[in-house]
This record gives sequence, C-alpha cells and structure tokens, in this order.
Amino acid sequence: MKDYLRYGIIGIGKMGHNHAIRINYGLDKNARLLAVCDIDKARRDWAEKNLPKVKCYSDYKELLSSKDIDAVIIATPHYSHPVIAKEALLAGKHVLCEKPAGVYTKAVRELYDTAKDCSNRVFGIMYNQRSNPLYSKAKKIIESGEMGEIKRISWIITNWYRPQAYYDQGGWRGTWEGEGGGVLINQCPHQLDLFQWLAGMPIKVMGYVKTSVKRNINVENDVTFYTEYENGASGVFVTSTHDFPGTNRLEIDGDGGQIVIEQHALSEKMTYYKLKIKETEFNKNNKKFMPRIPYKKKTYKTSTLQNAFALGIIGQHMNIIRNFSKAVMKGEKLIAPGTDGINGLTLSNAVYLSSWLNKEIDLPFDEALFIEQLNKKIAEEKAKQ
Ligand SMILES: NC(=O)c1ccc[n+]([C@@H]2O[C@H](COP(=O)([O-])OP(=O)(O)OC[C@H]3O[C@@H](n4cnc5c(N)ncnc54)[C@H](O)[C@@H]3O)[C@@H](O)[C@H]2O)c1
Repeated sequence: MKDYLRYGIIGIGKMGHNHAIRINYGLDKNARLLAVCDIDKARRDWAEKNLPKVKCYSDYKELLSSKDIDAVIIATPHYSHPVIAKEALLAGKHVLCEKPAGVYTKAVRELYDTAKDCSNRVFGIMYNQRSNPLYSKAKKIIESGEMGEIKRISWIITNWYRPQAYYDQGGWRGTWEGEGGGVLINQCPHQLDLFQWLAGMPIKVMGYVKTSVKRNINVENDVTFYTEYENGASGVFVTSTHDFPGTNRLEIDGDGGQIVIEQHALSEKMTYYKLKIKETEFNKNNKKFMPRIPYKKKTYKTSTLQNAFALGIIGQHMNIIRNFSKAVMKGEKLIAPGTDGINGLTLSNAVYLSSWLNKEIDLPFDEALFIEQLNKKIAEEKAKQ
C-alpha cells in the first residue's frame, strides 16, 4: 500500500460531493481522491469540471474493479447502502458507508455476514456526530461508571425544520419506495445511533408515528417513541420536521447524576450534574422529606462560530474520514464501526412496526414482518400516484 489511502466515492450528490471536495482539497493528509462515480450525468459533468484529475465512472462496479482504489465512501440513497457496501467488501475495498446502514435490518444483517468474512477490510459508518466533543464526553463519563446505572434517556429533537418545498424536490426523498420513510430514516439516524450508543439497546419499543402532519407527504414527519431497558430504565424520543425553531435537548439520568446536552442555533452546551453521593446510597440513609442531594455542576461548550466550523458538521465528517484512513493505515480504533449501524436502524424499524401494528414491540423483532409491512406502505403509495 502507498503512504496514503486511495479513495473512490460512489454517489456525488449533496453529501458525496462535499466529501469529494474536502478530500480533494487535502483535509485528510492520509487520503487522496482518485475516483468518483454517479449514475447522473449532471453530477459527472460537475466532477469532470471541478475534479479534473479524478477518474469519473458511471457504473460503481467498474470503480470497484479498479486496482487503483483502496477504499470507497458510499453516499448513494439509503436502500443501496448494504448492496453496494457488500459488493465493495467482496471486491477487496475498505468501506466507509453513509448513514443509515440501510432501510431494513435484514439487508444490513446480510451485509454483516459478508463483512465477517472480509475481516481484513476496514468497515466504517458515517456517524459523524459521535465525534462531537459533547457526545463523546458524555460517552466517556457514562463508560467511566460515574453516572452509575442509567435510569432514563430523553431526547427532544424537533429542530429538523423541513417545509413543503423540501418534500416537493421529488426524487427519492420523502417516499416509502425511494427512501423507506421520513424523519426517522433521513434526519434522525445520528440521534438514534447516539441514543443507543449512550444508553444501550432497549428490550421493548412503543412508537407513535404520524405521517403528513401539515405537509402533503406520504412518510412520517412527527414521531414519539418510548423505550424500555433490561434494568428497568426507560427512554423517550420526540422528533418532527414541522416545528420552528424546534428543540434539541438530550437528557440522561443516572444513579450518579444527570447530563443535559442542548443546542440553540450554533451554540451547544453540556451540563453535567455530578451527585456527590449516588442517589440510591443517599436514599438509604436520608431521613428528610424533601432533601437535595449535593452535586457539582460542570459545563462544557462548543459555542463559538469558529468551533461550530472546526468541530461542527464539516469538522465532524472529516473527523470520521481521517479516523477511517488511520484505521486502515495505522490500525487506529474506529469511532464508528460499520457493524454499529444496525442498532439505530433496529430502533427505527421497531418504532415503525410498533406504530403500524399499534402494539409494543419486543427486540429482536420479526424482520420478515417488517419488510411485509414496509412493502404494504410502498404499494399504498404507488396506488395513490
Ligand atoms: N452524514 C451526514 O451528515 C449526511 C448528510 C446528508 C446525507 N447523508 C446521507 O448520504 C446519502 C446521500 O444523500 P444526499 O443528500 O447526498 O443525496 P443525493 O440525492 O443528493 O445524492 C445521491 C447521489 O447518488 C447517486 N446515485 C444513486 N444511485 C447510484 C448508483 N447506483 N451508483 C452511483 N451513484 C448513484 C445519485 O445520482 C445522486 O447524485 C443518504 O443516504 C443520506 O442519508 C448523510
């Protein structure tokens, strides 16, 4: 292998072209962009004009057969992620796949069977928000045991405002057939991943999924779900794309304290209330009716414009790409291993299934039943057209 990783990008639409520009500009010193691929001629014309030294393909299979490429970033629509990732691994490429891992867990599980057989290839997923310093700080605190047993996780993430014009763009977005859902599969995969990254996977899910709220669409844009965990902990997740300005507030309560992460425009902060004595210990000996448990309050911020660009969305994507290159070249631990992708997707599939069947869903759920129900949605959508 050369002293840099030779990348190809499959799908150079909105996200893929950002990755292409940034790698080509040299934002990862271990990476070179050698090839891109898109089925859309207009995107290839853009690449030929703006990435003159980069080879341009119209068929990803041809890109995958090139000996000049070590690794691919997959930035095509969601249904194709597990299909292309599987072929790329089998073609001997290292794979960094955009989120979500896929639309339904069965396809992703099949991809993982392939990934197991290709263990000498690095397989990552673009969960860039894991590199946000506030979420990674929260993860470290929880893993250190300071928070004790988690009792509750609640996330209100309603600042994904999308007007009708967004849905009227057409294409694959905002349809069951093209995208496999709405806010859960498009906007929320990052939060669904962080929800399970920080609090673990639940054993039960109850979902309330509303479609077409104040918008002329077939997919959901307003969701509330409840989760229950093996230790008796619970979770609540609320999201929508029709509130403005909306809220982004994550709260995790543990025996040892509370973590709150809130975002307002470009400003983000985390407050950690570390109890001086764990609540269960305090409760054993306390005789007062309405006591307060002493705590130490710590605040962490990524609040300036400069930080927003360095650590925010642009920085975060590059953090994942740099980490991926180093994982291939130097064995660095992946921030977001590809095989973690199924967890957030399991949550969203279970939430849909719960809402469609109007009942609580135990995990693991019936994957064949999910596909059957999803296909029903696709058929209903087609019948409407
Ligand atoms: N990590 C993030 O923050 C983030 C942000 C936005 C989008 N995404 C993800 O990136 C993916 C793409 O989203 P987007 O907004 O760029 O969509 P997009 O429609 O703008 O781009 C997708 C591109 O893939 C091309 N394409 C489709 N099928 C192809 C194939 N078989 N071979 C080659 N090219 C093909 C399309 O022509 C298009 O140019 C989605 O899965 C989305 O969830 C991630």
